[in-house]
Amino acid sequence: MSAVVQSPIVQPVRPRPQGYDVERLRGEFPILATTVHGKPLVYLDNGATTQKPLAVIAAEKDYYERCNANVHRGVHALSQRATEAYEAARDRVRRFINAASAKEIVFVRGTTEAINLVAQCFGRARVRSGDEIVISAMEHHSNIVPWQLLCEQTGAVLRVVPIGDEGEFLFEAYEKLLGPRTRLVAVTHVSNALGTVTPLRRVIDLAHRHAVPVLVDGAQAVAHAAVDVQALDCDFYAFSGHKAHAPTGIGVLYGKEALLEEMPPYQSGGDMIKTVTFEESTWADLPYKFEAGTPNIAGAIALGAALDFVAGAGLEAIAAHEADLIAYASERVSDIRGLRIIGTAAPKAAILSFTLDGMHAHDIGTILDHHGVAVRTGHHCAMPVMRRFNVPATTRASFALYNTRSEIDVFVEALLKAKELFA
Ligand code: ALA
Repeated sequence: MSAVVQSPIVQPVRPRPQGYDVERLRGEFPILATTVHGKPLVYLDNGATTQKPLAVIAAEKDYYERCNANVHRGVHALSQRATEAYEAARDRVRRFINAASAKEIVFVRGTTEAINLVAQCFGRARVRSGDEIVISAMEHHSNIVPWQLLCEQTGAVLRVVPIGDEGEFLFEAYEKLLGPRTRLVAVTHVSNALGTVTPLRRVIDLAHRHAVPVLVDGAQAVAHAAVDVQALDCDFYAFSGHKAHAPTGIGVLYGKEALLEEMPPYQSGGDMIKTVTFEESTWADLPYKFEAGTPNIAGAIALGAALDFVAGAGLEAIAAHEADLIAYASERVSDIRGLRIIGTAAPKAAILSFTLDGMHAHDIGTILDHHGVAVRTGHHCAMPVMRRFNVPATTRASFALYNTRSEIDVFVEALLKAKELFA
């Protein structure tokens, strides 16, 4: 990852990045002009899902208006048009994450399905009783529960790399957990609950020295900084379209070709077969072996448009803009008495998770909503992180390419009013 955000805790606010036209970008997102409870929307829940630009909405509409047909199945013109657009989207994804081949790009519903696919298929190919899967203590439930299920099914054991008081990945503990029975390491790229950026290159290098493949949950990373799967040398990389300005219900599993080849199919049915008789069936080539049934064609095409949009804004520029936002937000809240930021590790992405003495996160979220400010409250599908920090829940503001410092000002003013109500 080229653009890693240094923690605002250790790096003061710097001058704003020049040449990034946030107002022009905002104009591409119709929903940002909406009002909530009579107030202009301030959307700071990008960790949960991102808003969609006109180009993405148009791509989906255009598909249904001009192309709609099933893919890989028809000789007629519409089917060929749909197939070409679907496969072009796959190649768009390949270029976006710099995969070596489009065979390594599997369309799935989202990160959750991608990780379940690997847990089940890699699990069947490689994991036996007594083997070990290593994850970290800051994983989202979708990178915990699939491995628990696999462990139940196979008798394998889950090992968890602890995190420190700042929410940092404890590398020395990780080194100690890797052993002869480790079959896979599965870690997040960016923690959705803390903002911590995992030191992926070191994590992957060390795992590879033990001949252990690594899966990366990239759900909170792809729309925020450049991801190059070949430079990282990760073995699997999973992400959801909807957290990268694409529609819901479409996502990507990247897997190295050799690993995907050796894995059995996930779901079975149409389009994933080469031949079928009542005695046996054989599987289609990659990536179709993992794409049973009619896929989310419109979603894949719209994902391609979303990645074009993000690439057009520039990953380096987005990362710099978001670094400015998290630094500014952290500084603005730093003198609010009783406010505790959960997740202060460097490097850190643009996620501000916090508690406020005497107030439950849900009350904070409800009051902020009445000021037009959308944040997420709760455990963020990362209950072990809450337990690690001994809090029931946090309030989380998570930023994206279209957020501004003045929105952060509105958020902080609303937070201060919420605090007054509970004083
Ligand atoms: N995993 C999403 C989040 O962090 C839904 O909010």
